Amino acid sequence: MFAGAAAPPRFVERTPLAIDVRTMSVTVVIGSQWGDEGKGKLVDLLSGDIDIVARYQGGANAGHTIRWGDKEFVLHLLPSGIFRPGVVCVVGNGVVIDPVALLDEIRTVREMGYDVEGRLMISHKAHLIMPYHKAIERAREHARDAGAIGTTGRGIGPAYVDKFARTGVRVVDLLDRDVLRKKLTASIAEKNAILGRVYDADELNVERIIEEYVEFDKVIDPYVTDTSNYLNRALKMGRDVLAEGAQGSLLDVDFGTYPFVTSSHPTAGGACTGLGIPPTSIRRVIGVVKAYCTRVGNGPFPTELTCDVGERLRRVGAEFGATTGRPRRCGWLDLVALRYTSMINGFTDLAITKLDVLSGVDPIRICTQYSHGGKTNMRFPTETKTLAAVEPVYTTMPGWPEDVCGVREIDMLPDAARNMVQLVASFVGVDVCMISTGPRRSETVMARIAA
Ligand code: GDP
Ligand code: IMO
Ligand code: MG
Repeated sequence: MFAGAAAPPRFVERTPLAIDVRTMSVTVVIGSQWGDEGKGKLVDLLSGDIDIVARYQGGANAGHTIRWGDKEFVLHLLPSGIFRPGVVCVVGNGVVIDPVALLDEIRTVREMGYDVEGRLMISHKAHLIMPYHKAIERAREHARDAGAIGTTGRGIGPAYVDKFARTGVRVVDLLDRDVLRKKLTASIAEKNAILGRVYDADELNVERIIEEYVEFDKVIDPYVTDTSNYLNRALKMGRDVLAEGAQGSLLDVDFGTYPFVTSSHPTAGGACTGLGIPPTSIRRVIGVVKAYCTRVGNGPFPTELTCDVGERLRRVGAEFGATTGRPRRCGWLDLVALRYTSMINGFTDLAITKLDVLSGVDPIRICTQYSHGGKTNMRFPTETKTLAAVEPVYTTMPGWPEDVCGVREIDMLPDAARNMVQLVASFVGVDVCMISTGPRRSETVMARIAA
């Protein structure tokens, strides 16, 4: 099937934006921290003004929460435009697909009354997560013991290992039963040897897995297409594309806090390789910045707060993993890290989220330098040992007592809140294009605060 020729229907309701995403080109939305910045809310909001939303990396490790009216849904694999009728949603080649998670999500979205027929496209080149990927990840994390990464257990790392080792199974392989059987038999024999001999873990049954994946093929077949071709043709036809990143820049396998990272490229370059679109098609790169920082899993986190303030951020911000339910570690906003991720991604705009959570926190601290070995600087070290050793140097600002939840006008924000946003824009040298003051679509200030 190739749906590229048909113009995707446009959603009629438009949101007044302080950023023009109708550029007939690509806008990339990227987490600027360690994930969970509120990308889902933002992509859903911007989707009201866009033709196509495309996920470019990661898998069901992502948890993107969308809230509208009295409804809330956490998406793991489907792009966050799926609740906007008429918006085409693409799962790109860079995503690793867990069939069980995908089918479950498609079913639930349909049951909620949202049609996916003709507007969901899945890349034939995307790799599949196999039961052995999850089994190996479990065994590896267990063996790492205290040095564990604290992964989401969704098989992401081992699936990307197979992709780059050129032993992965792709969506297109489902079309040919003989190829699928041959690939899986070889792969499972190798994985069973590793599971049994190295990790003393249970082995997997080849026939059962083949059966399961053949069933999966029957359901996803209508959605499978050459998505790179589709996107490039759509761009030529003047469509707007929103590329939705999962995770965050500091979890990037190259530019994050390695080895405490995910196994893909959430950063801007990942949008090109994960969708098969040229860098020249990208017009805007929006960095999503939570007004404080959170991190799930292990690894260095210079501004982490283990005191009452951290507890308060977790409680008020409901900082519990959308995928695993784990409590998120909380800390102050880190502008040294943000300047670094802005440099890597080339952010053209920043979207500040969860500003409302800081109401009543007084004073507010913002990290503007790191101190290490008796010297202070603004360099973000990605070498784990150094990052774990730096001491954050804070700029202290007065907080505000007013509840700003749901505020939609910039003038309705207290001066202290506006000053904080201004500091972020000026420090990073990038305009803020919107401020989120609550989880719902409407709870957003659409204003441009110039750097
Ligand atoms: P994502 O992974 O970046 O999409 O973010 P998550 O969905 O994992 O986590 C963000 C959480 O914050 C979700 O529960 C959202 O509903 C919620 N959220 C998003 N923006 C805001 C905001 O401005 N204020 C508040 N209070 N919650 C928000
Ligand atoms: P969204 O898209 C926050 C973290 C895990 C772990 C590390 C590696 O919702 O922002 P993995 O399972 O990817 O191999 O785990 O990355 N992690 C996330 N943290 N938000 C996410 O996604 C994450 N996806 C993975 O907690 O530390
Ligand atoms: Mg999340």
